[in-house]
Amino acid sequence: MDFFEYDGMNFNRVAPYFERLEKIIFNKQMQRCRTAFIKRLPPAKKIALVGEGNGLFLLELLQHCDCEQIHYLDSSQTMLELARKRLEGFSKDASRRVQFYCCDLTRETMPDENYDLVVTNFFLDVFDKQSLNDSITKIAASCSTNAVWLYADFQISGRIYQRIRAFAWIKIMYVFFRFVAQIQAQKLIDPSEMLEQHGFRLKELVEFDRGLMRAEWRQRD
Ligand SMILES: C[S@@+](CC[C@H](N)C(=O)[O-])C[C@H]1O[C@@H](n2cnc3c(N)ncnc32)[C@H](O)[C@@H]1O
Repeated sequence: MDFFEYDGMNFNRVAPYFERLEKIIFNKQMQRCRTAFIKRLPPAKKIALVGEGNGLFLLELLQHCDCEQIHYLDSSQTMLELARKRLEGFSKDASRRVQFYCCDLTRETMPDENYDLVVTNFFLDVFDKQSLNDSITKIAASCSTNAVWLYADFQISGRIYQRIRAFAWIKIMYVFFRFVAQIQAQKLIDPSEMLEQHGFRLKELVEFDRGLMRAEWRQRD
C-alpha cells in the first residue's frame, strides 16, 4: 500500500522522534513493560509483532528467541524503515529471520496464519471500539490453537491518585497523537474482554511506572 494515499492514522511524521520522546517522558519504563516476559518466552515457530513501530522490541526478541520466522507488521513506512535499519545494524543473519509487512490492520488481513506467539506493544490503544474489536478478531483468527498473546499498554488502574495520574497522562498523549498521527481513539479502551472472548486467558500481569502501564501474558488453553 502506498502511504501517500493513506487518509487515516499515520505515524510517519512522529516516527523519527518516537524513541527520543519515549525516553524523555518515560525513561526505560515502556521498554521494561514491552520486555516483561522476554527471558521466558514460549517456544514458537512463527511470531507476529503487530504495530511494532521502530524495532526497539525486535532486537530484544532476537536475542532471547531462536524462532525462524518473525512477521513484523506496521502501517507506517517510516516506522518499518527505522526497524529495518536497526535490524541491519544488529545482525545480517537475524535479518533473514524477519519479514516486514506494511499492513494497515483496519483495512487488510494478517499476512499469514498459525502464529504461536503474537505481540501487541502499545498498539491496541490507538483504536476506537469498532476497530479495536475488528483488529483483535483478525489477529486472533491468525493464531494457532494454543497461541500466546503478549500485550503491553497503558492503563487507568489502582488507587485514586494513580488513576488521576494515569488519566492525565493518557489524556495528554491522546491529544498529542490525535494531532501528529490522527489516531482514531479518543479514550483508552481496555481490550481484556475482547481478548477473553477469543480465548486468550490472562496468565500473568506485571505493572510498571506505578501502575501506568501493564504487561500481560495471555494464552489460549
Ligand atoms: C503507539 S505506536 C507503538 C509502536 C510500538 N509497538 C512500540 O511499542 O513502541 C503504534 C504503532 O502502531 C502502528 N499502527 C497504527 N495503526 C495501525 C494499523 N491500523 N495497522 C498496523 N499498524 C498500525 C503505528 O504505525 C505505530 O508504529
